[in-house]
Amino acid sequence: MTALERALAAPKNLTFDELAGMLASEDEGLWREIFAAAREVKVKCGKTETLPRGLIETSNVCAKDCLYCGIRKGNAKVPRYLIPEEEVAACIDEARRRGYPAVAFQAGEIESEANTAYYERLTACATGRAGSMTPPLEVTLSLGEQTEEVYRRWKDAGAMRYLLRIETSNRELYAKIHPAECSFERRLWCVRALKRLGYVTGSGVMIGIPGQTIRDLANDIVFFGDERLDMVGMGPYIEHPETPLSELARRSSEHDVRLDLTLRMIALTRLYLHDVNIVAATALEVLDPEGGRNRGIEAGANVIMPVLTPRKYGCNYDLYPGKAHDRS
Ligand code: 5AD
Repeated sequence: MTALERALAAPKNLTFDELAGMLASEDEGLWREIFAAAREVKVKCGKTETLPRGLIETSNVCAKDCLYCGIRKGNAKVPRYLIPEEEVAACIDEARRRGYPAVAFQAGEIESEANTAYYERLTACATGRAGSMTPPLEVTLSLGEQTEEVYRRWKDAGAMRYLLRIETSNRELYAKIHPAECSFERRLWCVRALKRLGYVTGSGVMIGIPGQTIRDLANDIVFFGDERLDMVGMGPYIEHPETPLSELARRSSEHDVRLDLTLRMIALTRLYLHDVNIVAATALEVLDPEGGRNRGIEAGANVIMPVLTPRKYGCNYDLYPGKAHDRS
């Protein structure tokens, strides 16, 4: 049996060395086979339908200072916003009108009672627990590191899924792209707490971070399996000029390399995990505005997150250049 046949037969049937070897390969023929195998796994797992989750970027206020992110606390150039609840309710209505089964609230990382209560109310509003609105929508949260108590309160309010990217599974690389007060251990603890609390749990990484190796990326895929993730969201790293990491990035890999590497990571993640939801990240669209999202789906992804944030706010949800500018 070839490695690909083995990978098709069952999940977690590739070794770390095989994953790393494939990722490093420039053999076009091999990649055609890998992408075809990833699509076959999608069919086998009943993941051929693309699931939309309406993305509402509720706030860009952030307490963290991650070295790569455009909405880091230290970026004084970005005007900060928190969308008033009535306006988020209108976005939720728009999701219903479009027939989306789910919405996702995403924002900068804030830990406060006001923040916790705001998402409790919004979650109740979307899931219909607040009263009149039908049909109920499923709620995904992407609100960073919180205490177990907060995760529990949001779960009790009706939230079903939570996305918390680990960013990289390499502790040393993690330390290089985050300020000292950010702890890899706490982030990992949070991913595990979410899983334990019964959330449909997602994590993921950025691809093409300066200093990141092929072996790091192969390890990321093994990490997704070890943590028994239900969802994976990955995207290319895109340098933001108002961040400390961007200077380094200009000297690292080119954007088209990162785009290809992201598509390869999606395919190998599908091949390694089989029955998992994989997001075709919006950052793919930035690198390939015409076809990025579709290429993600073709590579093995099955979830898209169309942006519902009103433009007047979303234009400042500037995680990376290009993110804020292409909205419906
Ligand atoms: N390039 C690509 N992705 C980024 N994110 C933040 N900054 C960047 C960037 N410069 C991603 C992180 C975070 C998610 C919300 O956005 O992975 O978890």
